[in-house]
Amino acid sequence: MKLKEHYLLMKASLLKAGIEEAGFEAKQLIKRVLGIDDAELLLNRLELSGEQQETLSELCRKRCGGYPLQYLLGEWEFYGLPFLVGEGVLIPRQDTETLCEWVVSRFSDRQGVKILDLCSGSGCIAVTLEHYLPGSTVWALEKSKTAARYCEKNIALNQSSVRLVLDDALDPAFAETGFDLIVSNPPYLSEEDMGRLQKEVSFEPREALEAGKDGLAFYRELTRIWTPRLKAGGILAYEVGIHQKEDVCSLLEAGGLDGIGTRRDLCGVERVVYGMKPCEENKEEIKWQ
Ligand SMILES: C[S@@+](CC[C@H](N)C(=O)[O-])C[C@H]1O[C@@H](n2cnc3c(N)ncnc32)[C@H](O)[C@@H]1O
Repeated sequence: MKLKEHYLLMKASLLKAGIEEAGFEAKQLIKRVLGIDDAELLLNRLELSGEQQETLSELCRKRCGGYPLQYLLGEWEFYGLPFLVGEGVLIPRQDTETLCEWVVSRFSDRQGVKILDLCSGSGCIAVTLEHYLPGSTVWALEKSKTAARYCEKNIALNQSSVRLVLDDALDPAFAETGFDLIVSNPPYLSEEDMGRLQKEVSFEPREALEAGKDGLAFYRELTRIWTPRLKAGGILAYEVGIHQKEDVCSLLEAGGLDGIGTRRDLCGVERVVYGMKPCEENKEEIKWQ
């Protein structure tokens, strides 16, 4: 069968299964299985072998069942960098680029920034920050062994110097302190959210998602445990879920942080909440955005 015929069959099946970007997804799967790029795909005069057709049909069948495209591809782009993904690790989301973008703009004129990324998963935040803030020293802390293995591979894939720590962010053995910045995109779904997960998300690890009855368990504990590890004037910055901004701002305020601010993502959702550990010189400092 010709490539184009198979592409049209796959697109039709994906559309029927309710997948909005059916054409895009079919092309991604074809490029992955055939090992071709966009230019070769456009030529589309290729004849598919029986084995290639079978592989593509199997991937298409899984995708129609809600299995995430990113797991089928095994790799996904985040902030212009490649990340390996698969079962057991959260797929890097575009929402999370907002946190990275804010940090990069905030710290781009600083040298030798000492950064810790808690609940690192694939390592997308840690690797991105180390890449776009040259000269920074970045640690990635993750509890899940499976996720940490992906993080390790992603550090190597991106020729990054991020230091991976396998540890529990809620009961850490890791003793490093004096960070300029601690960032985290922790689990933040409430019990109620967990009960109505999208089909695709239900294939991702529960420990990457669930955060107690109100979804705030990690923000509460991470703020308490890690604020003392910031330098005076250091920043704690979180990604937050929809409608969590107010609660997380209050938690940072209750945790003694100053200059609390927020940042919206491309959809207008308040996605980042940050605060600064006070120091004598900045007690009166204006609140920055
Ligand atoms: C929402 S995911 C974020 C992953 C990654 N930072 C990102 O933005 O794609 C949360 C991560 O926290 C990890 N995690 C859950 N509990 C943890 C704990 N107690 N200590 C460290 N990591 C934890 C999960 O395994 C998961 O990788």
